[in-house]
Amino acid sequence: MYQGKPDNYYFDLSKQFLENAISVNDIELLRDVIRFHEWKYYIKNNPLITDYDYDILFKKLQQLEKDYPELLSSDSPTVRVSTDQVEGFPTVSHLSPMLSLENSYNESDLIDFDKQIKKLTNLPEDALLKYDVEPKYDGSTIVLVYENDVLVRAATRGNGLEGDEITQNTKMIMSVPLKADFSSYGIHKVEIRGEAMIFKKDFNAINEKRLNNNESLFANARNAASGSLRMKDPVEIRNRKLTVVSYQISYCIDKNGDDILKNFETHYETIELLEKLGFKTSLSSSKLCNGINEVIEFCDSMATKRSELDFEIDGMVIKLNDISLQELCGSTLHHPRWALAYKFQALQAVSTLERIEFQVGKFGTITPVAKITPVQLSGVQIQSISLHNEDFIRNKDIRIGDKVIVERAGEVIPYIVKSLSELRTGEEKIIEFPEFCPINNTIVQSKLYKSDDEAAWYCTNCVCGQVSLQKMIFHVSKEGMNIEGLGESLVKKFWELGWIVDISDIYNLDYDMIYALEGFKEKSTENLKNAIENAKSNPIWRFLHSLSIKHLGKKASKLLAQKIDNVWDLANWTEEDFTNIKDIGGSVAKSVMDWMGSDENIALLKKLEQSGVNFLQTDEDKPIQVNTNSEFSGKSILFTGTLNQMNRKVAQELAEKAGAHNISAVSKNLNILVVGEKAGSKLKKAQEIGTIEIFSEDIFIEKMKKSGLL
Ligand code: IVH
Repeated sequence: MYQGKPDNYYFDLSKQFLENAISVNDIELLRDVIRFHEWKYYIKNNPLITDYDYDILFKKLQQLEKDYPELLSSDSPTVRVSTDQVEGFPTVSHLSPMLSLENSYNESDLIDFDKQIKKLTNLPEDALLKYDVEPKYDGSTIVLVYENDVLVRAATRGNGLEGDEITQNTKMIMSVPLKADFSSYGIHKVEIRGEAMIFKKDFNAINEKRLNNNESLFANARNAASGSLRMKDPVEIRNRKLTVVSYQISYCIDKNGDDILKNFETHYETIELLEKLGFKTSLSSSKLCNGINEVIEFCDSMATKRSELDFEIDGMVIKLNDISLQELCGSTLHHPRWALAYKFQALQAVSTLERIEFQVGKFGTITPVAKITPVQLSGVQIQSISLHNEDFIRNKDIRIGDKVIVERAGEVIPYIVKSLSELRTGEEKIIEFPEFCPINNTIVQSKLYKSDDEAAWYCTNCVCGQVSLQKMIFHVSKEGMNIEGLGESLVKKFWELGWIVDISDIYNLDYDMIYALEGFKEKSTENLKNAIENAKSNPIWRFLHSLSIKHLGKKASKLLAQKIDNVWDLANWTEEDFTNIKDIGGSVAKSVMDWMGSDENIALLKKLEQSGVNFLQTDEDKPIQVNTNSEFSGKSILFTGTLNQMNRKVAQELAEKAGAHNISAVSKNLNILVVGEKAGSKLKKAQEIGTIEIFSEDIFIEKMKKSGLL
């Protein structure tokens, strides 16, 4: 309940406002809706709509106020920046008020921003302005104050003027220096803004632990970070592995109390100083861009890289680099005019769970799949989402008819973040797990079973044949034997026709019958035949992986293939033979041994061998020969920028053959950096460190040629 009204009331209004034009008569209602969402987000830590939708509502309000300035009100969310204060922490005033950022969503917003800055600074339209473009970290704002080189205070953003004092908790965050040598730069007191966040891997570990302890899960890393900053036990905060990235100096005075922030010429310089003084900054993930076109290009490239980053970002922040120009631009009540947030496309949306379909996987696992009302997420329509297993459904208390928050980050498979139980009407239904095989539970009922140590329900030996079908689909897929032209739908068709029952039948198809099928011509039949024939000589790691042996993934298949001459060798392996291989554990060993111990599987292998499938180790299966005499031997290496003469993967493999090992970041531990075209911050950082050997792509290739690797 907010202001005496249930969440449903605000949710329905939000939907209406998001989908339709808003009448000016509804301006106060819109403000109320926005205030409600701010309360849910900041106070309750339990947002009901996505950030993206909130921003759209906020923008609509801004537009109405712009069109009808007479309706501006002093308590509108657009002037009273939202608050994140909670009871129990003393309130402190910031040294300089923290405004919000104006949001933008597309290229034309960025171009308008650049034009407006030129107008405000009296610069010609064709001037090329320098912008520092940084990730917009999706965590919780933190404001640090250092006096006489010592961290004296830390606070949350609060309402921008005042925040909650969280100094003790902040001292537990390892990336916040307790002391920093500001005085060497004539700085007596300084205020630094940054973002406290939790890296993706740490966040997943925290939620996993909470799941095991039967505690409620955090909806996302942002909520976890903001909750962690306010924990009552500062020691516990250490376990939360918070990181602070500092992105702005907002106040800076010398011993006489004079403002010396103006002494810096650029924003970039201020961040470089923080980096030098031991702060974690945005330097390695940001770019100093020349002109708005470079800004657009960088924002686009970061949007595609978003899911690969170790931390969550929800957009980029574009900052005019020149501090004297920033001053000319000034600020509105809500945001500085020299900075802009560029928000990435929505990764979350709210949809309704319509029904559940139970699917049978290649190991016989029963996977519940949610069928939702279709929604668009980062350009893709989503309507099916795996719910993994029964525990997942029970832990998240997901019901049929629920409104659910759906998320899809980059290329990552969509998932359900949570169900919005506040919006239930009473019509929702608990999801019942089937007792019998969901595919064929009428003719011969096959009872599902569950082992004690696993969350999944299984159906094996069932007449439905789904397990064999799924194994065949995986066998031909890119991950398996990679048979081009033989995809899921064709496998299904051949299976329905009764032509293939297990994977060995794929190599004994009757091509005359295929040719007679609708849609097949001479050429396409020939192509399919060639693709299947070619697959017979695949390296054995592909073959091993394609057999769908539990726990035997791609990496383990490659490791096994390195050690055997013939697939049959594995039939005689002991547990020790397996576990002697680094990175192969007991579960792979047991699973492969079980598989090889089954008469049915041995018969299958025989059929496959008779059909001409290769069982012998190929050159591709053999381990990469490491050259221990080369100058690369034992060194760490990193490739940066665009390589023109070979792709990066090939270059990395060559480096490994020469005895080097690839690492992913520039640090003192890096020995060699190979720079391609447009190398950016990594090169700069390596030069600063000074001990790293830097090669051009040409030099690297020359050295590879000299060592006989090319
Ligand atoms: S600059 C006038 N830079 O975005 C405000 N903010 O400001 C200057 N944020 O919650 C903010 N990454 O904590 C700036 N690289 C970055 C940022 C960033 C994340 C957050 C900030 C605040 C929100 C809007």
